[in-house]
Amino acid sequence: MKEYNIAILPGDGIGSEVMTEAKKVLDKISIKYDTKFNYNHGIVGGAAIDSIGEPLPDKTLKICENADAILFGSIGGPKWDDLPKGKDPVWGALLPLRKHFEFFANLRPAICFKSLANASPIKSEIIGDGFDFLVVRELTGGIYFGEKKLEETSAYDIMKYTKSEIIRIAKVAFEAAMKRNKHVTCVDKSNVLSSSVLFRKFVIEVSKDYPDVKLDFLYIDNATMQIIKRPRDFDVFVTTNMFGDILSDESGMIAGSIGMLPSASINEKGFGMYEPSGGSAPDIAGMGIANPIAQILSAAMMLKYSFGMNDASNDIENAVQTVLEKGYRTGDIMEVGKTKVNTKEIGDLISEEI
Ligand code: IPM
Ligand code: MN
Repeated sequence: MKEYNIAILPGDGIGSEVMTEAKKVLDKISIKYDTKFNYNHGIVGGAAIDSIGEPLPDKTLKICENADAILFGSIGGPKWDDLPKGKDPVWGALLPLRKHFEFFANLRPAICFKSLANASPIKSEIIGDGFDFLVVRELTGGIYFGEKKLEETSAYDIMKYTKSEIIRIAKVAFEAAMKRNKHVTCVDKSNVLSSSVLFRKFVIEVSKDYPDVKLDFLYIDNATMQIIKRPRDFDVFVTTNMFGDILSDESGMIAGSIGMLPSASINEKGFGMYEPSGGSAPDIAGMGIANPIAQILSAAMMLKYSFGMNDASNDIENAVQTVLEKGYRTGDIMEVGKTKVNTKEIGDLISEEI
């Protein structure tokens, strides 16, 4: 029997509630595909601060290092917002994790299922029978990790990219496009920023190895408009860390709910961390009403990208779609005439479909 070690890091807020449902779904897959998943739990973020005083305990890091993949929930919340930088969940855990494992490629699919077209704030004429694009965001470089300084009356953050960083993320985007609709849109701000001029230049260079893929360009400001105006025209976006952060939130909104969107962060060895695109939603934490679909679909991405279990991954996606088609909705995507269910109920329904 195949066996995989999964580091389970639920984190804060709704993290543990939605993680429970993802594990429930994985347990079903384990039976159906005769595969054993060993779950190794680690504390991270605010939960780890509260329990042992640091956001990314060594023990958690070890669990991740020994795993075949990391399934991550979400971290942070108002309780830990004012901690000094580095002691907080973002700079003390999430960004160091990304950097430690060099998860340079962040894949954020934005899918608006036909059955959820009404949950999108975009006009139905534009949504048609839904859309499906992928944001490929560079995750370990750019302005997030450049030199920074904050003084009393001045501050800066350096946005730097190198040729090799751009080439490796561009390859990920073109490879993804080859398996999809063979269209890459490079999003940058090369009319103003030097780092974007370089970004565009090396994306063009990589594109020469993919003559079947159509490449076009948008400045980030225009891109934010175009994905609202014509979301169905896009296939794969490739962009920098900061712009990808912005585009992926916008994509979540127009897809209906950020509670629906999974993501994968992958390094050069193919090791990956899988997490919902959304945050820890402290306002609804503990109430049992969060949408676990992003976490469940993150587990599906893990099966596909880290374990090569494509059929199992498709099973999960189909199960999610079927449950939505049957009219079940969590609060964030609820509409008149549908059946409102809570976190556990939708997790049960999805597992039953598998
Ligand atoms: C995300 C989040 C993070 C980011 C924050 C929490 C640092 O918004 O994963 O998109 O900006 O990358
Ligand atoms: Mn973000």
